[in-house]
Amino acid sequence: MPVVLAVEGLTKRFGSTRALTDASFELHAGEVLALMGANGAGKSTLVKILCGVHGADAGSMTIGGTTVAFASPRQAREHGIIAVHQTIADVGVPTLSVADNLLLDRSCTGRGPLLAGGRRSLRAAGAIAAGIGLELDLSRRLDALSIAERQLVAIARAVAHDPAVLILDEPTASLSAPESERLFAVLDRLRDRGVALLYISHKTGDLRRIADRIVVLRDGRVSGEFRRPLDLDAAIRAMVGHAVGQVARRDPVPDGAPILRLSQARLAPTAAAFDLVVHAGEVVAVTGPVGAGKSTLAGAIFGLWPLAAGHMDLDGRPWRPRSAGEAIRNGVFMAGEDRWRTTFFPGTVPFAQIAGTIGFPFLDRWGRAGLVARTAETRATRRLIAEFGIKARGPEDLPASLSGGNQQKVVLARWHAEPARLLLLDEPFQGVDIGARDDIIRAIRAQSRDRATIVFVNDLEEALEVGDRVVVMADHAVVGDAADLARISALLASPHPAVS
Ligand SMILES: Nc1ncnc2c1ncn2[C@@H]1O[C@H](COP(=O)(O)OP(=O)(O)OP(=O)(O)O)[C@@H](O)[C@H]1O
Ligand SMILES: [Mg+2]
Repeated sequence: MPVVLAVEGLTKRFGSTRALTDASFELHAGEVLALMGANGAGKSTLVKILCGVHGADAGSMTIGGTTVAFASPRQAREHGIIAVHQTIADVGVPTLSVADNLLLDRSCTGRGPLLAGGRRSLRAAGAIAAGIGLELDLSRRLDALSIAERQLVAIARAVAHDPAVLILDEPTASLSAPESERLFAVLDRLRDRGVALLYISHKTGDLRRIADRIVVLRDGRVSGEFRRPLDLDAAIRAMVGHAVGQVARRDPVPDGAPILRLSQARLAPTAAAFDLVVHAGEVVAVTGPVGAGKSTLAGAIFGLWPLAAGHMDLDGRPWRPRSAGEAIRNGVFMAGEDRWRTTFFPGTVPFAQIAGTIGFPFLDRWGRAGLVARTAETRATRRLIAEFGIKARGPEDLPASLSGGNQQKVVLARWHAEPARLLLLDEPFQGVDIGARDDIIRAIRAQSRDRATIVFVNDLEEALEVGDRVVVMADHAVVGDAADLARISALLASPHPAVS
């Protein structure tokens, strides 16, 4: 197949950080080239150069033999290159409907006005959504969607452009297996049509399923290239410098005292009632498809909204939190799924740095504002940066300047700054590399003794790795729990109808 895109010697620095050094490779029509690399290896930086977000400091790009340089994403788009970025927080217009967002690019190019929600535009938006098998109420506002749904909207928009080169930066980071498979089916079709795909993922299952060839980046340099049959172990070695296995499941933890107890709880008036008990010392993984109600459960325990029915106890006393603040004061912490909505501040806020982000929930404990708080904050942040292996220059770095996986580590580090009684982690492994996932699981376990920990994950493999026991949810209710793969798969498979 012909070379569609060739890059030669691409180099990019941010201040003293060498994000990308002398990177060269070719991308062919009708192939899926996977880009692998540890957190901070330079993958997203490369993507941003290819699609005109950043200019390169050195190096060149050719499309179909002609040298190009893009001053903007728009120029890249005119050459047929479209990227779906890792941070989708700023994709689309939050206050508009899904339909309007899907049609945004068309209305911008003067074919509008379509934003009236007329029948014709709804049909056009429906066709775009159907292009990737996206089943969603198109009249919902973008900001009412879950992160997985927004990710799918962003992908549908990109595919609708009919690009020659489609770049996907961790598109499945918050998708569960069925949504991922739907996406892969779309990518198969695009590949058959001769589209060149550049695919970034930390999930080895994704790569096994979709990659034709792998290029590995390490510390900003190309450190390996692999062709079919793909040797993923070798690729991982090229990526991190050593072999990485699965974290061993730990020995069963002796039952501590029950910390959280849900009795006859309902997450929605029409959902089934369920019980759940989580003990001190154990790490419980809650899994189930997107839309199964995992985040709804997490939010109810954390005080974001009430249960529809039933009740909760914390340490044997009724637990009816009315706000996140009340939860935090009582030692119930939650690391939210969408880090840009729940954790980070805009860069213009004075305490937007890593230290301020980590210290924010604990200002009450660390002495209101003032010097004491600042010192405690900086000290705690330094310790956590080391503990979680966060690749940053220091506590005063802005989260926005960190790679995606390192941003995620900041979110987890924040809620380990103080001891929790109950720690809720919603999709904690989003975008973290294989090596870092091991480190995070170890860090979670190291502090898990005196608290109860609940980890909410779409990915079954992750659930089995992190959890001492796995609880399965479907249709906004807990439907069972198990510790072995066969039983969990059976719980997930039936008899619950597919959840949209
Ligand atoms: N806008 C920026 N300002 C300063 N440094 C940056 C900026 N963007 C990226 N970097 C730095 O460049 C390096 C490469 O980051 P990049 O985001 O490309 O990594 P990545 O391979 O995509 O990692 P991940 O798997 O975590 O997403 C990191 O050290 C990062 O901190
Ligand atoms: Mg990245």
